[in-house]
Amino acid sequence: MGQIFNFFPLSVLKSKIHLSEDQKKKMLDEIFAMEKESKNEEYKNKSSAWTGDTQGFEYIHNNPAFEDFFIEVKKVIIEYLEAIEVDSKQLNIFVQRSWATISNEKENIALHKHLQSHLSFAYYLKKIQSDANLLFIDETKHNEFLPGLFLSPTSNKKQIIKKRNISNSAAIVFEAQENDIVVFPSKTSHQTQPNIKNNNRVSISADIFITAKDTENLENLVTPFENWKSI
Ligand SMILES: [Fe+2]
Repeated sequence: MGQIFNFFPLSVLKSKIHLSEDQKKKMLDEIFAMEKESKNEEYKNKSSAWTGDTQGFEYIHNNPAFEDFFIEVKKVIIEYLEAIEVDSKQLNIFVQRSWATISNEKENIALHKHLQSHLSFAYYLKKIQSDANLLFIDETKHNEFLPGLFLSPTSNKKQIIKKRNISNSAAIVFEAQENDIVVFPSKTSHQTQPNIKNNNRVSISADIFITAKDTENLENLVTPFENWKSI
């Protein structure tokens, strides 16, 4: 019998951020106030969730109501970096964009990725079990030697894949609960589950940008902002 070797994973971290009920209520109040003040209402259609960054609220990290939350976020980002053996002490961590989302009924967020960012997260500020989860799509599909094998609805129906496992899956529903935070590389394609009834689900997302502290003899990575110059 031969032996199978699996390489090249996608690592997603699920951790928890515990805030007091009072803090969570303050954040929710702020988010629902943002929704009322939406600046681009025609952008949202009936089937899409409300996303604050498209409605004029893309910097909630500068809102004092979210200050404690982002202190905890930083710890989780370091946890992610260290989990994959990246030396976080040599890096500076920034939040470049952050926003809330609100999902009601069967609203969802279509497939996308955050290509201007390095790490992204979803934190579930308000979620019941039946609310939609994140769905990750693997675009690399190293094992998909027959195009369409992994995601084709008809090959799925005929059960050409006998049993789904890490070797033959290119889409995964990632279950999470209220207070969970899910961190993933920003370039990962993701969406929220479609056709799931949401009960006023509220999440917070942000794009995390990472620079090197010291670029001497370091060819790659983003240089420190203090050395940049607007020209
Ligand atoms: Fe996203």
